[in-house]
Amino acid sequence: QTPDQIYRTGYHFQPAKYWMNDPNGPKIYMGIYHFFYQYNPYDAQAGNIVWGHSTSTDLVNWTPQPPALLRSEPYDFKGCFSGSTTLLSGGKPAILYTGVDFSDNQVQNLAVPKNLADPYLTEWVKSPYNPLIAPNSVNKIDGQNFRDPTTAWLNPDGNWRMVVGNQQNGNGIGLLYRSKNFIDWIQAENPLHFMNNSGMWECPDFFPVSTISQNGLETSTMGPNVKHVFKASKASTDFYTIGTYNPNKDIFIPDNKSLDIGLGFRYDYGKFYASKSFFDSSTSRRILFGWINESVNNLETNSIRGWAGLQGIPRRIWLHKSGNQLLQWPIAEIEKLRMNPVIEDTTVLMPGSVREISGVNATQADIEMSFSAKTLEKAEKWEANWTNPQQVCSIKGASVKGGLGPFGLLVLASKDMQEYTAIFFRIFKGNNNNFIVLMCSDQTRSSLHLPSSDYDKTTYGALLNVDPLQEKLSLRTLIDHSIVESFGGEGKACITARVYPTNLAVDGATHMYVFNNGSQSVGISKLTAWSMKTAQIN
Ligand code: FRU
Repeated sequence: QTPDQIYRTGYHFQPAKYWMNDPNGPKIYMGIYHFFYQYNPYDAQAGNIVWGHSTSTDLVNWTPQPPALLRSEPYDFKGCFSGSTTLLSGGKPAILYTGVDFSDNQVQNLAVPKNLADPYLTEWVKSPYNPLIAPNSVNKIDGQNFRDPTTAWLNPDGNWRMVVGNQQNGNGIGLLYRSKNFIDWIQAENPLHFMNNSGMWECPDFFPVSTISQNGLETSTMGPNVKHVFKASKASTDFYTIGTYNPNKDIFIPDNKSLDIGLGFRYDYGKFYASKSFFDSSTSRRILFGWINESVNNLETNSIRGWAGLQGIPRRIWLHKSGNQLLQWPIAEIEKLRMNPVIEDTTVLMPGSVREISGVNATQADIEMSFSAKTLEKAEKWEANWTNPQQVCSIKGASVKGGLGPFGLLVLASKDMQEYTAIFFRIFKGNNNNFIVLMCSDQTRSSLHLPSSDYDKTTYGALLNVDPLQEKLSLRTLIDHSIVESFGGEGKACITARVYPTNLAVDGATHMYVFNNGSQSVGISKLTAWSMKTAQIN
C-alpha cells in the first residue's frame, strides 16, 4: 500500500475513489440489496452530488453499478441530494429525492427503474412530472431548507404519506405530505413532528418498531404492538425519539417529551450522520446505514488520499424490551469475515494493568468482551453538576486514574503506547445509591502526527443504561484502519470514531491491549478477538 492509502478500510463500504456522504434509499429488490449514496464523481470533496449505486447479496461484499441519478435536468442541475426508496404496489421501487435546481432551490423529485426485470436496477428514469413539490409563494417554504424525503408509508385511508426535512425561523420541522398516486403531493396542515429552536432537520426517517419482537416491520405497518421512531439529523448528530403514530389524525407523539429530538437518544455518540433505515423483507430485519465522515476534512488531505467518507457497518435495530430505547448491533453477515479467533479465559485485570491481545491483526479486527466487577466499593462519586457525559469523558480520559475504571480497550496502539484510541467504561456512584455507567471513546492520543488544529480529536461519551450489579458490561469493537466502531451494553450505546494512527505506516507496528486504570480490579468474563478478512467492496 502507498503511504497515503494506509487509512483505507478493509471491510467498510466506500466507493473506489472520491467523496461520499449520506446513505440513500437502501432496499432489497428481487433478492439483491441496493445501496445508494451521495457521491461526487469528480473529486474527493463535497460537490457535484449524484446518487452512487452498489449492489450486494450479503450486505458485506459490494459490486459497483453506474450512478443511479446524475445531474441532468433544470430541477436537479446543481445536485441530486438525499432521498429514499419506497416499494409501491406490486413491489415496484420508486426513488424520491431532492434536486437542487438552477436557482438553488431544493425541490422533490421522483425516479423509477427503467426495467423492472433487471434485479440490478441499473437504469433509472426521472418522472416527467418533476419537480413534484417545489417551494413557491403560496406554500412559502424556504427553498434552502427543504430536503431529504423519507420512505413513504401507506396510510389505512389508502393514501401515501412522506416527510420532508425543513426549517422555519430556526425550528426543525418534518413536513408531512399526502398522495394518492405518488405524483401529486399535498402538504398536510400540520407537520408530522417539529421542535422549536432545533435548527434544520436533515434526512428525517420514520418507521415502525415492534414492542413484542426483535423483528423489523415493513414501513407501512401500524396497529397493536407497534411504536414509531422519528429520527432527524442535525448539528452533526442523529437523534431519535420513540412514540405513537395516530394514522387517523396523522400525528406522532413522543412517549417522553424529555427524550424528544435533540434532547434524548442518539444512534451514535461519535461520528454517524444522515442515517437511513430500511426493512429487509428477506430476513425480517430493520437495518440502519449511517455516514461516517472524516475527522480531518481539508481539501489537501482528501485530494492526496483521493477519497473521503465511509459508511458504518450496517446495524440491525430493534426496540429494547423497556420500550425506552433502540438497540443496535452489526448485522450478523459481517461475522463471516471473522477468522483465527483468539479466546481468553476468565481473568482479572488488576489495578493499573495493561495486557496485550496478541495473535490478531490489530488493524482489521472484531473484538467482543464483557467485564464484571465483584464490588462497586471504589466507584467514584458522580458530581451533581455533570450533565454532559461527553464532557465527563473529556475531563476523565483513559489516562486519568479512577476508582472503578477506566477499564477497556486500547486499539490502533503503538508498542510504546504513546499512540492509541481508548474505548472504556467508568462506573460512578450516583446520589441515590445507584450506579452510573459511562462509556467513552478517547481520541486525544490517536493520531500523533496530526496537529489538533487540523484534526477533530473530540472525546466522545455516553451514559449506558446498565446495572453493573445485575448485568455484565459488554463491549464490542470493530476496528478497520481508520475507523473504530464500538457497541456498549449489547447495543445500548454506540460510539464511532475516525482516527489516523501513525503506527499503521509500518507492518506489524499496530497493537491492541486491555487495560484497567482504576484502583479496583475488574474481571473479564469473556474475550474473543478475530482478525477480519478483507471484503470485496466496489
Ligand atoms: C446531509 C445533507 C443532506 C443533503 C445532502 C447533500 O449530510 O446535507 O441534507 O441532502 O447532505 O449531499
